Amino acid sequence: MTAITGDIERAAGVLRAGGLVALPTETVYGLGANAEDPAAVARIFQVKGRPPSHPLIVHIATADLLDDWVEEVPRAARLLAGHFWPGPLTLVLRRGRRVPLEATGGLETVAVRVPDHPVALALLSAFGGGVTAPSANRFGSVSPTTADHVRAELGDAVDFVLDGGSCQVGVESTIVDVTGGTPCILRPGGVTREDLEAVLGHPVAVPSASGVRVPGQHPSHYAPRARVVLVEPEKVLAEAEAAQEAGRQVGVFLPLHLAATAVKTHAVVAVPASLDAYARGLYGFLRGLDEQGCDLVVASLPVEEGLGLAIANRLRRAAGPRTSV
Ligand code: TXA
Ligand code: MG
Repeated sequence: MTAITGDIERAAGVLRAGGLVALPTETVYGLGANAEDPAAVARIFQVKGRPPSHPLIVHIATADLLDDWVEEVPRAARLLAGHFWPGPLTLVLRRGRRVPLEATGGLETVAVRVPDHPVALALLSAFGGGVTAPSANRFGSVSPTTADHVRAELGDAVDFVLDGGSCQVGVESTIVDVTGGTPCILRPGGVTREDLEAVLGHPVAVPSASGVRVPGQHPSHYAPRARVVLVEPEKVLAEAEAAQEAGRQVGVFLPLHLAATAVKTHAVVAVPASLDAYARGLYGFLRGLDEQGCDLVVASLPVEEGLGLAIANRLRRAAGPRTSV
């Protein structure tokens, strides 16, 4: 079911009363609170089980409102906001007074974006303020791309779930730091590096897989219950066979043309040839393998161009070292 006008009003009321609303965006579902209400923001961290030092994104209704939330807007930020908003781009800027430190994990910078989803935009304009929203999942796990994912994972911990259907992009926004001289990508996402470079007119740096650590980005993140192992494309099946023989419940990610030939005992995800479709499906695929009882997922990385950069980033993080279990 999709949200209707009455739902939007009700959700805005929940936000005004200091409650939590799960809202659809074009990337993933968010767990929203009034950005200017420190107690409501604190509840987000509690519900997610997320350390309070991890900064949140403030969602606003239009690019015109940006100046209300940040100290200053550098030229590059204005350019990017004008070009990509509403859309899957988050800009990190110097924090305006309006933003409580609870929302920024104590940082003097703030992440802001205008989401490209009619239900999110209707909520933001009905509410009138900014909405801090991390992805609506428990800390470290796979982000939700449907309202059912949110209900399954957070249940009664959320005061209201706005259903806006399946998310069209499927991976989180691209985060660009525009506080320094040259914009740089902190997290690859729905807006590609190539698109950013075309608008800015120069190359844009991306952190290497093992390099720079952004607050709130742990090695193991976006991870299903099953362990994820990444191998060369031609080794996926052999790796899966060996693990299966060792008694594991194995799920494999395979390109469409190989998926049909896979041994029936594996749970198989047929990876779409289009990167748009792959990104849109990625988190649902991982959730699906968990539901099928897999304890190991064997996959390979896509070529890291276009949306492939964000998909590879999420797969690497899903495969990262875990601190528990
Ligand atoms: O697509 C998205 O961005 C989704 C939807 C709901 O908008 N949101 C999302 O939020 O992915 P979250 O909290 O799961 O990830 C936001 C990340 C944090 O992990 C952190 O790394 C980064 O944004 N971040 C937020 N504020 C920052 C800041 N001031 N400086 C650097 N990084 C920041
Ligand atoms: Mg998240």
